[in-house]
Amino acid sequence: MEKTGANGVFYVTTPIYYVNALPHIGHSYTTVAADVVARYRRLRGQRVLFATGTDEHGQKVFRSAQAQGKNPQAFVDEIAAAYQKAWKAFHIEYDAFIRTTNTTHVATVQYVFDKLRASGDIYPGEYEGWYCTACESSFREDELRDGNCPDCGRSVEHASQPAYFFRTSKYAERILRYLEDHPDFIIPRSRQNEVISFVSAGLRDACVSRRRTDWDIPVPDDDSQSIYVWFDALINYLTVAGYPDDPEKFAQVWPPDVQLMGKDILPRFHATLWPAMLMALDLPLPRQLVAHGWWVAPASDKTGLTKISKSKGNVIDPLQAAANLAHVSGADGDVAVDAIRYYMLREVTFGLDGVFSMDSVVDRFNADLANDLGNLLNRSLPLVHRFLAGCLPAPSGDLELTEDIEAARQACEQAMDQYDFSGALEALWALVRRANKFLDERAPWNLHKAGHTEAAGQVLYEVADVARCVALGIAPFMPYVAAEIWRQLGLEETQETMRWQDFAPGRTPAHTAVGEPRPIFPRIDVNKLQQAEVEQKARQEKSTEGLVTLAEFARVDLRAGKVLAAERIPKADKLLKLIVDVGEDQPREIVAGLAPRFQPEDLVGLTVVVVANLEPATIRGARSQGMVLAAGAQEPVAMVVLSPDCPPGTKVR
Ligand code: MSP
Repeated sequence: MEKTGANGVFYVTTPIYYVNALPHIGHSYTTVAADVVARYRRLRGQRVLFATGTDEHGQKVFRSAQAQGKNPQAFVDEIAAAYQKAWKAFHIEYDAFIRTTNTTHVATVQYVFDKLRASGDIYPGEYEGWYCTACESSFREDELRDGNCPDCGRSVEHASQPAYFFRTSKYAERILRYLEDHPDFIIPRSRQNEVISFVSAGLRDACVSRRRTDWDIPVPDDDSQSIYVWFDALINYLTVAGYPDDPEKFAQVWPPDVQLMGKDILPRFHATLWPAMLMALDLPLPRQLVAHGWWVAPASDKTGLTKISKSKGNVIDPLQAAANLAHVSGADGDVAVDAIRYYMLREVTFGLDGVFSMDSVVDRFNADLANDLGNLLNRSLPLVHRFLAGCLPAPSGDLELTEDIEAARQACEQAMDQYDFSGALEALWALVRRANKFLDERAPWNLHKAGHTEAAGQVLYEVADVARCVALGIAPFMPYVAAEIWRQLGLEETQETMRWQDFAPGRTPAHTAVGEPRPIFPRIDVNKLQQAEVEQKARQEKSTEGLVTLAEFARVDLRAGKVLAAERIPKADKLLKLIVDVGEDQPREIVAGLAPRFQPEDLVGLTVVVVANLEPATIRGARSQGMVLAAGAQEPVAMVVLSPDCPPGTKVR
């Protein structure tokens, strides 16, 4: 199926984000990249549908709402709004923001489920396996790594229950053939190979429902089951396209031209389950899937680099980074946001992992933006005012930078077609540097001094012409900066006037009156940056004084312990010696200050809470290996006890 002719819409998507937490750099990365694609296509005159949104069902989201004591709907409303606000601040211009709790989406998911159950691709069965809530994924026992989730390493929960299954296995052959016939389906190519191996190893049917929950889409006509969150989530791409109720829109939009995502959700979901679902629905597959790498940070245990994520407590908020950048540089806040967008797509080749550091942000800001691009403008525009009364001349004769402009445009287009964003920016910067060199070589200040004002005017025209082309090239990446350059050049910056086809030499109108030059990128003093970082750290430490992080709390090993025996310690009227079974080979001896309140016989038989990894200590000749929890500030008032059926050794969290 082809999109309907000239009406075809370029459809680009991001994954929809779990609303268990606020957006961080990982989410922003995919969304900025998709925004760059959407803006580039619009600049090229294409109609675009750029969709992003939030994935609001599932246990992970439900538990986060519970943990904060909030009603789940109120919780997801709050976080979805925070996502929208963050995207606006990040200069993201999406066309559709899908929320999976929208009624239209719920109806689409139920429609798809029903249709596939009717065709036999969804069938009832018995689920037996291990579930990782963090990944919202299930695994067979033999897939676990050391008994934990093979993807994220966290603990998994066992489940055995009736459920519906989707026949992914039936489509394995077809998917494999598709991958082989479409070598450009997945970018980068290395990921396509990875997916081929994944599929070749065999695909098993996906469990697409679970025992009825209050926070998932119910399976139609079966009160006992709810739909699996990934099955629900993938269908968002269809809902946005108008499936099944708006066939006219659907014909113009489907299939997606490109779907962007992180490498972690490619093989299992977007490259197998998703194509299989589309095959079962008899719908065309997306044209391309593009998987990017991760933003990583040094691991706390110094074992190397680890993915940035909320649960590791190492998140970076790129908007905060932009605010810091604005603070230390004195740049406009919108310029700083654009600079972070630039940094994210320029610093790391799309597809590879990268380390975010403020030092490298500042290096890029100073070198690429302030020095290369900023200087090109700051060294040329004021001269137009000084030598030419603020008006560019008409171009005359051969333009010397013609080939450079054309080469840059071509290289940039090629790179953009391959989602090689850093390559596209490199091509543009080659042009910026060439124009700076041209300015040095032709030295219009000398020409003017020697009375060759006309020749000086031609040089300045060419430099301004390059600046205009560069502004077009960077517009998808740095929309605010591009518009600002355009304004400084004295051009009108609207969607109609800024067109990619004018990325060509000599298109700057003759006699353009250039605007007021104003440096866009003030150079950053690195010492000032360090000072600001120190201050921020101090502020942060102050605001978290007295608080422990989750990771710190998790270091305390709390266990259920059964008190087997208790006795007084001679000549120590406050202490009791307890013998406690904490599920180990040997019971432990624990000395506790419980005697002011409890008789030894009150305690025997109780299941108490033990701090199992407390440093051992010798107290009155007894070796104390742990501590038991009791309420009471000075003297004990009450024991913390667990129900008697809780086995000794059970972890308390
Ligand atoms: N809700 C699912 C997606 C469903 S799409 C039908 C989900 N959500 S997520 O919020 O956990 O992650 C969304 C995206 O953020 C993924 O593409 C993931 O790769 C990306 N990132 C999260 N952390 C990341 C980094 N540290 N670095 C780069 N991107 C990473 O998965």
